[in-house]
Amino acid sequence: MIPVIAIDGPSASGKGSVAERVALQLGFHYLDSGALYRLTALAAHQAGVSLDQPSALQGVARALTVHFKAGKTWLAGHDVSTLMRSETCARDASVVAALPAVRAELLTRQRAFRQPPGLVADGRDMGSVVFADACLKVFLTARPEIRAQRRYNQLIEKGMPANIDNLLQDILARDARDALRSASPLVQGDAVVLDTSDQTIEQAVQQILTWYRDCPPAPGT
Ligand code: DC
Repeated sequence: MIPVIAIDGPSASGKGSVAERVALQLGFHYLDSGALYRLTALAAHQAGVSLDQPSALQGVARALTVHFKAGKTWLAGHDVSTLMRSETCARDASVVAALPAVRAELLTRQRAFRQPPGLVADGRDMGSVVFADACLKVFLTARPEIRAQRRYNQLIEKGMPANIDNLLQDILARDARDALRSASPLVQGDAVVLDTSDQTIEQAVQQILTWYRDCPPAPGT
């Protein structure tokens, strides 16, 4: 059984940074599942497919040609690492992610990331749906104001425009959309909660590594 650590939580909670570092420390593969929803939204935009056409969006998700290489993301041969992090793309991704047809389409693609020696996967439904048998499930969160501030810092650092009040409103709207949708909503479920409002990334990473070390071995290993 290939071990999976599932790290779910709301927008801008720091899941990506934490999950990537945990994966690095353990020598595990890393899946940023939110990237697949962002890329579906981006590819739809580029193909002129509107966000109210579920079956066309499902087709876009099926046809995605994606490569993750050396910290960069390539969509159909183009480096979209910066473009996919824009707030517009995040907003469109949360609309696309509410569609069951798109979620079903991306399921197999996500599960294919489960390769030896292990996987750290971050998103909204890693522990509840995609890797329900994960050996460790973490619900990573932080207060909305802290998350808005972190997102603001990230965008400014990348030279992208940002307004903290708008970011907070966007984060609250996305939280509501991700938690209230009927298809695989963001839920805490049986995950252990890690509130990083007053923690550094490194502290969160160390906490998860400690929990992982205490995980009982999978049957047959
Ligand atoms: O984590 P993120 O901000 O990159 O995610 C982008 C959008 O995709 C967000 O609105 C939630 C959605 N998402 C999802 O529904 N399920 C996942 N496993 C990951 C992300």
